[in-house]
Amino acid sequence: MKGIILAGGAGSRLYPLTLVASKQLQPVYDKPMVYYPLTTLIEGGVREFCLISTPHDLPRFRQLLGDGSAWGLQIEYREQSRPEGIAQAFRIADSFIGNDPVTLILGDNIFYGGDTFSRAFSDFSSGAVIFGYHVTDPERYGVVEFDAAGRAVSIEEKPKQPKSNYAVPGLYIYDNSIVALARDLKPSARGELEITDVNVEYLRRGSLRVYTLNRGFAWLDAGTSSSLHEASAYVQTIEKRQGIKIGCPEEAAFRRGFISLAQLTALVDKLPRCEYREYLANVVAEAQR
Ligand code: DAU
Repeated sequence: MKGIILAGGAGSRLYPLTLVASKQLQPVYDKPMVYYPLTTLIEGGVREFCLISTPHDLPRFRQLLGDGSAWGLQIEYREQSRPEGIAQAFRIADSFIGNDPVTLILGDNIFYGGDTFSRAFSDFSSGAVIFGYHVTDPERYGVVEFDAAGRAVSIEEKPKQPKSNYAVPGLYIYDNSIVALARDLKPSARGELEITDVNVEYLRRGSLRVYTLNRGFAWLDAGTSSSLHEASAYVQTIEKRQGIKIGCPEEAAFRRGFISLAQLTALVDKLPRCEYREYLANVVAEAQR
């Protein structure tokens, strides 16, 4: 399974924060935002990544994540010169995807809790998988409607009159037919290649599976100043209470077996003295017990 992290867009709602660093590089409590979606995919078993961002911001992502080898990953970078829709990512990354299935995650989506994603990744064989998450304001999102048997019957992008309270979060899994499907996609009325149109097409073909995310699951948005602040507060609360970090790629890579204990130890040794280093040193110490 290949992984795409889409981290472009103008970030205008976070201005002036985004004048010098893109939205997905802003801190969410103690880490850059992009660490969270990256970690989500590592936890799902993804090792090969393509990060897509603007020509302006791409060098910063490279500086932050490099080629991924230190964490047992491969990370490639591609430019999106204009934000012409989430589904454009599959055109930009088609040579990266090759003949494999692919998952796409939005660089500003933060997820925490439960094992639904791991199950979705390990059970995936063909078609498409999306998720449904109960929210108070579904009109801001893609919205999925279910019939009495719990089967998805419609998906609409930002409907004025939503048919359910289930929003579709920014994590999608597709088989390789996404490459051809994205190639044939037409821009919507707002001029974008819509991810919802992709999902509607898989639904029409009868090959879309929707998992609902349960009550204990957190899906956080970090797109405005207040939601960014709330996401930071949430992460801080959980981390302080549990002593476990959310969105720590080094730890996820180690737990997934992408790097050995010796490699993790070597990584820790290179870190400056800080709370992040102490945390990872504890992960090493616990693994040695
Ligand atoms: O967050 C989940 C929602 O994301 C879904 O429920 C919607 O179906 C989906 O359309 C999308 O809605 P948004 O209104 O949040 O999309 P937005 O245009 O804000 O883009 C989401 C992120 O993707 C944002 O951080 C910028 C990035 N992006 C977006 C577009 C359109 C790109 O990097 N390139 C793009 O061309």
